[in-house]
Amino acid sequence: MVKSTFEAGTPGPPSDPARRSPSAPADAARLPGKRVVRARGVAPVLPLRDLTAAAPVPAAPSPGVEPAAATVPGKALGSSTPPSAGPGERGDVRTSGAEQAAPTSPTSPTAPAARPSGTIPASLAIGEAEGVGPTGRPRPELPTPAPLDRHGPARILAMCNQKGGVGKTTSTINLGAALAEAGRTVLLVDFDPQGALSVGLGVNPLQLEQTVYNLLMERGITVQDVLLKTDVPGLDLLPSNIDLSAAEVQLVNEVAREQTLQRVLAPVLDDYDVILIDCQPSLGLLTVNALTAAHGVIIPLECEFFALRGVALLIQTIEKVRERLNPHLELEGILATMYDSRTLHGREVLARVVEAFGDKVFHTVINRTIRFPETTVAGEPITTYAPSSHGAHAYRELAKEVLAR
Ligand SMILES: Nc1ncnc2c1ncn2[C@@H]1O[C@H](COP(=O)(O)OP(=O)(O)OP(=O)(O)O)[C@@H](O)[C@H]1O
Ligand SMILES: [Mg+2]
Repeated sequence: MVKSTFEAGTPGPPSDPARRSPSAPADAARLPGKRVVRARGVAPVLPLRDLTAAAPVPAAPSPGVEPAAATVPGKALGSSTPPSAGPGERGDVRTSGAEQAAPTSPTSPTAPAARPSGTIPASLAIGEAEGVGPTGRPRPELPTPAPLDRHGPARILAMCNQKGGVGKTTSTINLGAALAEAGRTVLLVDFDPQGALSVGLGVNPLQLEQTVYNLLMERGITVQDVLLKTDVPGLDLLPSNIDLSAAEVQLVNEVAREQTLQRVLAPVLDDYDVILIDCQPSLGLLTVNALTAAHGVIIPLECEFFALRGVALLIQTIEKVRERLNPHLELEGILATMYDSRTLHGREVLARVVEAFGDKVFHTVINRTIRFPETTVAGEPITTYAPSSHGAHAYRELAKEVLAR
């Protein structure tokens, strides 16, 4: 893997023109409108704690949407018990201590004392019967996505959960890469000032001259001015950095502030089959912009005790945006992430998520594996970093589900 010429702390523009900072004038001359991103081998330039330790932001009422009472919907498709990672792939440290541990007994100390195992309905017994997926429902046969002879108009999906560290960014990168692998043209929008999506694709956010912030706030800036091509064919990125945090405040004074993202994406809808927006962990104005632009919302939920806390407020916000700003908005699905089937706790949480959301829960469940943090360091999706790993397989299955919905 080629090392990037602009590592963290390296001053000045890089020597390779293909990887030159967007600020370099020759870049614009060579590649009008589009720049090549070296998506591989770029060490993250933000400290990892900045990317992963974002505390859940208390749900602040957005200027456009006040909180109210919630309801919960339901519907769904296929999961997988994917093949094990092939030998010889990168990332030989492919199992954490937890992954190597023997299956946890039903009396696991990780199970909350107040939740007896008998509370799992028999119908939701996890993976007991043949053909039953981890969500306790029969796994449907998902069709292999048919090739397309033309692209667009894009279906816009917001990856949204105001709880931090639940797998929004990881799912955006890997679902996007899996969709691109299936022949779809995909645009990823980094809508989080943390810039983790950009870092996860090998982009140095500190080197960016123009980002989603400029696209939102400056007239005359187009998607092409900000767009970066990744190493995955068909996968493009609108990168972001800390500048975007200013937009949250500045947009308040704009006319039609909630429709800003929708407006700037409109010209490229016909170029893409899917646009995925990676939201920040809050329900502020940026997230309301994402929900206003989107056709569907995917809610990644970490399979742990507090998973459902705050989801009611998120559902309320989605409903308010649907009522007031975007009548097309749908709950696309709930994606269970960081699942560990060997713990009673994980299985109980997943069972409760399925109880609460029914068929809205994707059949595909993303297991907890150290490979995902590894891919962030590598700056590439798991589908290219470890193509035959469980994780890559799971996101390919998720891509099929999303395309089948
Ligand atoms: N399935 C998984 N197994 C193990 N680790 C994971 C998994 N998915 C994500 N992670 C790791 O968990 C951390 C948080 O993931 P991620 O950044 O995708 O969450 P997020 O919801 O986008 O966070 P934030 O709210 O801060 O934006 C990262 O270090 C990521 O590598
Ligand atoms: Mg994130």
